[in-house]
Amino acid sequence: MTTLLLRGRVLSFRTRPEGLDDRASYMFEDDGGVLIRDDKISAIGDFATVARDAGNDVKVVDHRPNLILPGFIDAHVHMPQMQVIASYGAELLEWLNSYTFPEETKFADAQHGRRIARLFCDEMVRHGTTTVAAYCSVHRQSVDAFFEEALSRDMLVIAGKVMMDRNAPEALRDTPQTGYDDTSALIAEWHAKGRLHYAVTPRFAITSSPEQMEMAGALMRENPGLHMQTHLSENHAEIAFTQELYPWSKDYTDIYEHYGLLGPKALFGHCIHLSEREADALSDSGSVAVFCPTSNLFLGSGLFDWQRYSKRSKPLRIAAATDVGGGTNYSMLRTMDEGYKVIALQGEKINPFASFWQITLGNAKALSIDERVGTLDPGTDADIVVLDARGTPGMALRMENVETLAEELFLLQTLGDDRAVREVYVAGRPAKSVLV
Ligand code: GUN
Ligand code: ZN
Repeated sequence: MTTLLLRGRVLSFRTRPEGLDDRASYMFEDDGGVLIRDDKISAIGDFATVARDAGNDVKVVDHRPNLILPGFIDAHVHMPQMQVIASYGAELLEWLNSYTFPEETKFADAQHGRRIARLFCDEMVRHGTTTVAAYCSVHRQSVDAFFEEALSRDMLVIAGKVMMDRNAPEALRDTPQTGYDDTSALIAEWHAKGRLHYAVTPRFAITSSPEQMEMAGALMRENPGLHMQTHLSENHAEIAFTQELYPWSKDYTDIYEHYGLLGPKALFGHCIHLSEREADALSDSGSVAVFCPTSNLFLGSGLFDWQRYSKRSKPLRIAAATDVGGGTNYSMLRTMDEGYKVIALQGEKINPFASFWQITLGNAKALSIDERVGTLDPGTDADIVVLDARGTPGMALRMENVETLAEELFLLQTLGDDRAVREVYVAGRPAKSVLV
């Protein structure tokens, strides 16, 4: 048995912080210890107590004065879009056709998929992200590549093969039957193996025929407990085209509802332009709206109304995500910095405790994986990030004026990126310092 005792400033959330002085919403130990036995957290608390109870034969890793938090969770990201990031000058539909679809055709080549899957997991770890809900390409082999890579690192990931049978290049289209068959085979092969979770992944209503949407619904009925991920209400041209393709629908959300795709494990990327009826439908079903600020800004899609969605009488469950390659950074710190600005543009502020709750326990709850990850609670998986608020010279200088934990977190969010991530532990093992 490997026993590691991490020493540092330990922060883990209990509930969603309602304000800067909501001290009950988190545990913080200034000289804290996190005891890891094999792949699980077995104790946390003040260092002296945890060290005493741990006994001998423990390897202490001293991370002081850095912060020790649960690893970050990215609730929506596209593995095959690593070479799409930073593609100039287009809105969603043109961006998909000009850059994204051509790039995704490369994933017919299993070798290419394996290379990108490896670099993708490296990049996640470098940025402190230990769990993702990821889209692969339409090709089965891209999912094999991603799950093989995640399994070899013992990462908890949620992922699936994109289903798309129309409005895309021939080379990227499956059919309702092959999409169903490939998805079923992938579920049988990968779901619940190690820490892997399969997500049924119809890309969005534009690229799935009604027959394929039926098949996606059937897959969800036949495999209870799976996640479902798709895109919803991202951009006005997308919404108008969707309405043309499904003329009978009340609105965009109604299409997914019609095919039985709403529910507590349904993850809807973007949700920018929802009507009240659509927000009610998502809320009533417990579905999750995924806030992708860097992507929404980059593609000019719109401002996610975080305040409206979280404070309405029927609040939405909200997750936060990079949406790389529409998103412009792998870092959940950069993501929440842009999220802060999106919210500020609408006259509100998200407090730094709530931001860090969101990318740890909040996202874990939104993805229904909070029993395993998202906190440093004993018994949960040891996925951990170590953050250095002096990670760059500019951050170190700014830290000279910082007095409170809230200020430090806000600095990390505002200036931080992978340089602020000192170490990452995945299932109890150092994962960043071992990257080549
Ligand atoms: N809608 C359908 N596919 C995509 C995608 O790959 N990225 C984004 N941002 N929106 C989408
Ligand atoms: Zn997306």
